[in-house]
Amino acid sequence: MIKSSESPVTTPVDVEEIPIQDFQVIEFYVGNAKQAAYFYNKLFGFDILAYRGPETGFRETCSYVLRQNQIQFVLTSALSPDHPIEKQVQRHGDGVKDIGFLVQDAVKCYETAIQRGATSIQPPRTLEDEGGKIQKATVATYGETTHTFVQREGYHGVFEPGYIAHHLPGNSIGLQRVDHIVGNVEKGCMDDWVRFYETIFGFYVLRHYDEKDISTQYSALVSKVMANRSGTIKMPLNEPAQGLKKSQIQEYLDFYKSAGVQHIAISTQDIIATVKALRKNGVELMSVPKTYYTDIAERIGSIAEPLAELSELGILIDRDEGGYLLQIFTQPLQDRPTFFFEIIQRQGAEGFGKGNFKALFEAIERDQARRGNLS
Ligand code: FE2
Repeated sequence: MIKSSESPVTTPVDVEEIPIQDFQVIEFYVGNAKQAAYFYNKLFGFDILAYRGPETGFRETCSYVLRQNQIQFVLTSALSPDHPIEKQVQRHGDGVKDIGFLVQDAVKCYETAIQRGATSIQPPRTLEDEGGKIQKATVATYGETTHTFVQREGYHGVFEPGYIAHHLPGNSIGLQRVDHIVGNVEKGCMDDWVRFYETIFGFYVLRHYDEKDISTQYSALVSKVMANRSGTIKMPLNEPAQGLKKSQIQEYLDFYKSAGVQHIAISTQDIIATVKALRKNGVELMSVPKTYYTDIAERIGSIAEPLAELSELGILIDRDEGGYLLQIFTQPLQDRPTFFFEIIQRQGAEGFGKGNFKALFEAIERDQARRGNLS
């Protein structure tokens, strides 16, 4: 039975963990990488630092590398309608294709994963140029999403072999690192994917949330947070649960056409400055009703940031046993109601904003209703 818990949960699965240092790079497949690169550059302040395409010997695709502090994204588009990347974009719309993990030994990580039952997408390969050598190997996860083990061995080129520098700095808004990446999976499949991360990666269930934690008058979902022991990798998995109306997770699945990445949470050390910059740049953010802030001081206790300013900017606040956290969510970043960002500032809290789930999901449902998908 799934029990609600905000405390760490250890599972009985005794599998040696695949040693992952951190998230390395996240690749998106998009319809128009050139324009998407400017979107993330102008609105979110990412540097566009590298490019790969026909000019560098890649005849079929274009990729742009974005970076802000420790966060790296690659945006890739295909140049012809028959290319497999174009087919995936037609099906899913723009979205996350690959979550790359930084490792010391990509071949060993890959072989371990395959031995434990992972599906191979691309066997180990070595990329090399004057900047050095990079080893990569890729396995499948939920939907058409993949995980690549990336071994950089002190590579000192611009990004990876095949890329050239593309100098377009962004106006940084203080985004620091990937805090967690959330996947939405089909109803009834969450525990299969929990077992996948337990038995293949050696991850454990850090938290779990049931319908009582995450339900509104209309819809519900359940969630388990998979993590590695060092805490660098946190990947919650959601599945829709029975409610009076369609779960927001089901809306995602209906439009993405499969399981996939729902949101990437990005940390900042100064969420007030970050959100002011986002608003100034025109980023659409999820709004919460002013009533959310009515009894906030009693609920949250004392915090360093001025409540009036948090309320003005629509920033959510939650407290758990370790401290508090501040968070806000963007609207979906493409026309389909699929992928979005969370911006999070942790002040000791290690949870995921359980106290905000209801307010947040009611906000999502208001938008879902406006799209005609809450029925
Ligand atoms: Fe999140």
